[in-house]
Amino acid sequence: MDVVVVDDAEAVGEHVAALVLRSVERDPALVLGVATGGTPLPVYRALARGSADFSAVRVVALDEYVGLPAGHPASFAAYVRHEITEPLALPTGNVVVPQGSGQELERRIRELGGVDLQLLGIGRNGHLAFNEPPSALDSRSRVVALSETTRRDNARAFGRDPVPTHAVTQGLGTILEARHLVLLATGVAKADAVAAALTGPVTPDCPASVVQRHRQVTVVLDRAAASVLQRRRNVDGADRECIHHPQL
Ligand code: F6R
Repeated sequence: MDVVVVDDAEAVGEHVAALVLRSVERDPALVLGVATGGTPLPVYRALARGSADFSAVRVVALDEYVGLPAGHPASFAAYVRHEITEPLALPTGNVVVPQGSGQELERRIRELGGVDLQLLGIGRNGHLAFNEPPSALDSRSRVVALSETTRRDNARAFGRDPVPTHAVTQGLGTILEARHLVLLATGVAKADAVAAALTGPVTPDCPASVVQRHRQVTVVLDRAAASVLQRRRNVDGADRECIHHPQL
């Protein structure tokens, strides 16, 4: 696992965008797994400022709410369209946003030949995609109930509309099949979850801890999100050399 700590959310965006661009250069038909939410926005905006050709890239989103009217502005389909498909000029046929059942999502991922590079955020409660604690570490894509913490955290996007109670999400076992995982976190509110996921036990109670089971993981954090992790490592004297500070 490679852990990179940079100054702030913008720098996380630049670092991950550079990683995506290198991958697209190597493979113009890359299958890019995308997370939605606030954390990866600086990544997509940095990609959109550049001039790379994404016309052959395939994109698959991690999750989507269940029961929202089509085109609802808080849907992940709308997010992917506004933040990724349109600014990067991706053909719409190259973009998969989960819809319907988990089996359908699994089938679409299989048809793409699997995900090459998977961007991931993390919830304050340690959720990964919408795998809420507790989630089986080998779970497949399925419809899940959202926790109250997640519904509260995501409420701002819904204004006066009710926040959905369910979502369809890639499972933890599904996510582990991506060839390279990139976990991003910014802000002090994520610091405890990041430390638990990366240094705590691998457990259904912290779904993001499953990344410890993957062979190729890059974690990109800003200083605030890394703060508890770094304190813990300093106290433990553990393996500090795997934390890079590229801007120091
Ligand atoms: C979104 C997703 C979620 C978010 C997580 C963090 O597709 O899978 O797991 O990554 O809830 O959200 P933000 O980035 O808004 O803090």
